Amino acid sequence: MTTTAPDAAPRQGAGRAAIAARTLRTDRWWFPPAIQAAGLTLWVAYATFRAFMQDHYWIDQYHYLTPFYSPCVSNGCTPEAAEFGRFLPDWPILPYAAMTLPFLLLFRLTCYYYRKAYYRAFWMSPPACAVAEPHSSYSGETRFPLIGQNAHRYFFYAAVIISVINTWDAIHAFTTADGEFGFGLGNVILVINVLLLWTYTVSCHSCRSIMGGKLNHFSKHPVRYRLWLGISKLNGRHMLLAWVTLGTLAITDFYIWGLSADWFDDLRFVN
Ligand code: FES
Repeated sequence: MTTTAPDAAPRQGAGRAAIAARTLRTDRWWFPPAIQAAGLTLWVAYATFRAFMQDHYWIDQYHYLTPFYSPCVSNGCTPEAAEFGRFLPDWPILPYAAMTLPFLLLFRLTCYYYRKAYYRAFWMSPPACAVAEPHSSYSGETRFPLIGQNAHRYFFYAAVIISVINTWDAIHAFTTADGEFGFGLGNVILVINVLLLWTYTVSCHSCRSIMGGKLNHFSKHPVRYRLWLGISKLNGRHMLLAWVTLGTLAITDFYIWGLSADWFDDLRFVN
């Protein structure tokens, strides 16, 4: 690194080196947080729009249900799409999957990787390694509301249950409205999406800790040890899986939206 001219007022907190520049970094350190801010903003805007659209979420002919509406438990849901019952009121401000969406949101919001991403991209705390943050104090995750990040493990449990429901949706989609076996491009998309959702969920740091934590001797728990080894490998790709699953969720939803709106037809291989 080479010294650059000051680009902001220096912060001289306890333990900081007495340097005039905000950072001595000369690379494009701002690029990753800028991309992350753009990507997360776009995705949240799309997901919010779709969650409140209350339309184009179900293809009755092929039993395709978008994950943004799963399980569909509102009185406004099409009866065929509501496999788990309809018991929530049909209000415009209440998404049809209001029973699960908050937990999925909290699961992602408290995810170790997304925390890093949005702390840097939006909070700038700090924006990058060796770049001073604009805040005058730092309390970490020791106070409200950020102390709630510690509940991530419980949102992981909820995400496992929701992944089981998404898996059922993908299996159910192999049956057509006539009760016959059917297979189309929509099935491929639903199955890929659910497999990747499982991979992301299982690669969670909490899952790794649950599997390998509180053991004094791995040798006495060979099954947990092997599972921990596998999860640790996936965990190394957690950031990648976090972004890939945002993509597959949006693609899956958009495909079903497009089919429902008659923008295109499903490519059918069987029935
Ligand atoms: Fe990312 Fe648990 S750490 S989902």
